[in-house]
Amino acid sequence: MSETIAALLDESRVFPPSSSFVKQANFNDPAIYNVANSDSVAYWEGWARNLDWFEPWTQALDWKRPFAKWFLGGKINACHNCVDRHVSAGKGSKTAILWEGEPSDVRHISYSELRDEVSRLSNALLSLDVKKGDRVCIYMPMVPELAMAMLACARIGAAHSVVFGGFSADSLHERINDAQCKLVITADGGWRRGNIVALKKAVDEALEMGCPSVENVLVLQRTSNEVAWTDKDIWWHDLVPQQCAVCPCEPMDSEDLLFILYTSGSTGKPKGIVHTTGGYLTGTSATAKMVFDLKDDDIYWCTADCGWVTGHSYIVYGPMANGATVVMYEGAPDAPDKDRFWRIIEKHKVTILYTAPTAIRAFMKWGESYPASCDLSSLRLLGSVGEPINPEAWMWYHEHIGGGRCPIVDTWWQTETGQIMISPLPGITHTKPGSATKPLPGVSICVLNDLGENSAPAHYASVANGSVTQSLGGYLALNQPWPAMLRGIYGDPKRFEHVYWARFPGYYFAGDGIKIDEEGYAWLLGRVDDIMLVAGHNIATMEVESALVDHPAVAEAAVIGKTHELKGQAISAFVIIRSGFEANERLVNELKDHVAKKIGPIARPDDLVIAADLPKTRSGKIMRRLLRDVAEGRALGDTTTLADPNVVNALKDKYESSEG
Ligand code: WT7
Repeated sequence: MSETIAALLDESRVFPPSSSFVKQANFNDPAIYNVANSDSVAYWEGWARNLDWFEPWTQALDWKRPFAKWFLGGKINACHNCVDRHVSAGKGSKTAILWEGEPSDVRHISYSELRDEVSRLSNALLSLDVKKGDRVCIYMPMVPELAMAMLACARIGAAHSVVFGGFSADSLHERINDAQCKLVITADGGWRRGNIVALKKAVDEALEMGCPSVENVLVLQRTSNEVAWTDKDIWWHDLVPQQCAVCPCEPMDSEDLLFILYTSGSTGKPKGIVHTTGGYLTGTSATAKMVFDLKDDDIYWCTADCGWVTGHSYIVYGPMANGATVVMYEGAPDAPDKDRFWRIIEKHKVTILYTAPTAIRAFMKWGESYPASCDLSSLRLLGSVGEPINPEAWMWYHEHIGGGRCPIVDTWWQTETGQIMISPLPGITHTKPGSATKPLPGVSICVLNDLGENSAPAHYASVANGSVTQSLGGYLALNQPWPAMLRGIYGDPKRFEHVYWARFPGYYFAGDGIKIDEEGYAWLLGRVDDIMLVAGHNIATMEVESALVDHPAVAEAAVIGKTHELKGQAISAFVIIRSGFEANERLVNELKDHVAKKIGPIARPDDLVIAADLPKTRSGKIMRRLLRDVAEGRALGDTTTLADPNVVNALKDKYESSEG
């Protein structure tokens, strides 16, 4: 696979940070890479010392592959570090959470208000007999109480398991039982495009299916829709406000469970990814400060939902451990209109925006008039996460959102890594559109071939310094521990070893393909399951997608390899076109030719369907597995994680008629 992956993207534009950005950056000396990588454990210890510990650690790292423990013997509390210590340091009146609801209700919650609210909620949890070590399921809309619930659990030493509010009762049921949660915290509903998402109803259904561990359900009133009531249910407003606003932070062992977060791999039941306290907080607070160049006066907005790891690490724990002002938005980007994000940035003078390529592509499709009608001059840094960002989307983000002046940090990481692993440092790295650039200081990566041989230099420091003489391609793996790494799969250590450490013994295999170019830049290629083998050539689906999106008529594209008698796999493309272009045979051929021209004739799609929509998960990832089912004329596989199940049926009809 190596050669062909190596022959992938051809992107030569380079964007150095402006000298004014460099001057003010938290990190602007490239020496940090060598310092960190010459002793990465000492480097992470340095970051850990920026946190408040009740008792210092006695051993920095215990590494018995695949199990790592960080800061052994240390006692720490995540809520204390994210809230109380900022109040003690005199920042009590600073806004911690700047929240906007979908109906445009706005709340500014200061760090001292946050401390009081979280303490009341912690006391409420204690009154419901939630104790250190118990698990609490949080199933809420994006309201400040969601972040408060996470922090209140951390305060008393209970582990949270946040389930994204878009998940069904079935998914919720499965996750509650796997973690044996004692309490569910939810809301009557949340707002989404003017409609109420009936969260409490889904909790009722989940509990009816049988959740014997659940003793109570704490319900926040958000939408005031009618809800059914059982004797387990308690209104938030009947219990929380009367609690005492003082509640001590439980001193936790560095390796005590902080949270479980379920991630749905491609097969099998969801995996409860386990994150612990001291290392996770070290990794997320350090990377938030480095990658987002966080300053005291920033207004930082990560558009993710707290139901995903991005919300855990870069809405709550990382930024708040730095005492940042964090924007939280409840609703959809097109509610009431397609300029909602830009209005929020203008209104609150947001300085840092962290969002996902799927959102950026939607903005591109809607057109630049929406951002152009707002004042985005407060922005100084942009981030991207979730999937590879194609160069076209990168350039659009750079020009139309960043006004050509904001560095873009394309951050590669996973639920499992807990913290950003590969990303530019905005005051140092010269970025290339579509590349996540280099591993962060203190992080090393490996590039493996099919045999599991490491083709990258033993330590990545040399790559970061540009000493690669030849480009490399292969499987992205990690073989050195990092502080926020997952500690396992909840309740299933065997599955942890099997899923992550078995394919290449001794290495954590991330599941992604990667190419390193001659200058040591990393190009993430998506899941290796998404790499096609066409007539003996490996071609990444994202590479063809990038070529398609590069055409002015294309707003979004999804590509899959369909079984082909002769070639092994043939390329099928599904394309959404921009308004103003007409879907016809001529355009279909023009698009196929465009791919052939950009990548080579081998990559010319066999079929190309112009579609109205693409099947996506609720986190915005295209479900290529379903597209393969469509292209190969199979019955559709499991569609339960689809955001909108109708999309794929419509596509099936379309595909069959275009073939016929
Ligand atoms: C997978 C992890 C990390 C938080 C959100 C997703 C893909 C993520 C990038 C990026 C290319 C990326 C990878 C990874 N991915 N960020 N910047 N460039 N690919 O968390 O649901 O655990 O998904 O998302 O394939 O393995 P997740």
